[in-house]
Amino acid sequence: MRKKTVRDIPHLEGKRVFMTVDFNISLEDGKIANDTRIVETIPTIKYLLEHKAKIILASHLGRPHGPDPHLSLRPVAKRLQDLTGKKVHLIDRFWEESSLPRIQKINSNDLTLLENIRFFKGEEDNDKEFAKHLSKMADYFVNDAFGTSHRVHASIVGITQYLPSYAGFLMDKEICKISKALDNPKRPFLLLIGGAKTPEKISVIEKLLDKADTVALGGAIANTFLAAWGFGMGRSLVDYEMVEMARVVFWKTTHKHSALILPADVVVSDNERKKRPMVVEYNKVPHNVVIYDIGPKAQKYYQKLINQAKTIIWNGPMGLYEDPRFMKGTDLVLQTISRSKAFSIVGGGDTLTSIKNRKYLKGISHISSGGSAMLAFLEKGTLPGIEVLKDA
Ligand code: 3PG
Repeated sequence: MRKKTVRDIPHLEGKRVFMTVDFNISLEDGKIANDTRIVETIPTIKYLLEHKAKIILASHLGRPHGPDPHLSLRPVAKRLQDLTGKKVHLIDRFWEESSLPRIQKINSNDLTLLENIRFFKGEEDNDKEFAKHLSKMADYFVNDAFGTSHRVHASIVGITQYLPSYAGFLMDKEICKISKALDNPKRPFLLLIGGAKTPEKISVIEKLLDKADTVALGGAIANTFLAAWGFGMGRSLVDYEMVEMARVVFWKTTHKHSALILPADVVVSDNERKKRPMVVEYNKVPHNVVIYDIGPKAQKYYQKLINQAKTIIWNGPMGLYEDPRFMKGTDLVLQTISRSKAFSIVGGGDTLTSIKNRKYLKGISHISSGGSAMLAFLEKGTLPGIEVLKDA
């Protein structure tokens, strides 16, 4: 699936481009914790500026219910200014008609950033009038927000009804890299899934049982599968609503060529994590403990799987990586992937946050900017925001 990119826009000089991006970064005490999502959009911004287009950027931040000063894009505007060396004008009340002449007046050499697009309800409702209003700001639409393109929102899908619509470079890279792993994987192909968000991930597992050679699980999703098999998980995080679905996946594995691997042992402690961590077998989890990591046997086995694989996709940490006593599983998986020669894709907000040591990032073939979007793309091979762009 190839989509036309910004390179295919016929005449950029003097034109206005409405560019949706995913600047949904985490803020700690009002400061940007990780600016990767901003940095990743710079190539598209630079290209448009070099071709003398005027850029109007739009993004959401968090999940506000109306205007909320804690979720303002002000810190993002500042970082964007530092990264590009361009003045960034943050436009509040962008849903009002009066915003159009305000935007019009901005110097074409400067950047325009709309305030958090979810401050206006019409965004998430994919409201037609709002999408039309946004389209009046520009001549072209560019989607560089892979991370949000699983959402049918006005600045992702609705606006494409009114403007010729193209993919940005980040979007193009995400589509190419993930499709490469899915469509023509070098084998063995290993899918590693951890973390929570079991409902989203279980559909990916079910789908990729057809494609991957091995699917290995860690984190809370592994607990749900072990519970579905009938083992007590103590007080661990288990998504009981998904247990039936996990059984369906077990049943499906009996018909597929891929193997589904669960951790052979786990690291546990009490609810408050006061007791010394203890390693137990997967089938001997005491009733009063919580699982916080995969155990040493599982770590060793996952390491072996990674070393054998030629294509690896990883989404979701193996345990509670925020606590150094339970980061071993996640860390080992990361180190092993970064040293392997396989074509590797890593994604998911928590997975990326878990990567404390930046040097490991270099060994990974592609780091996806999408969390849920990456999962939805793995499951469906496309996203609503991609479907509506012009075909190449
Ligand atoms: C993400 O962080 O996964 C994206 O920015 C999408 O955010 P959302 O789940 O609030 O739509």
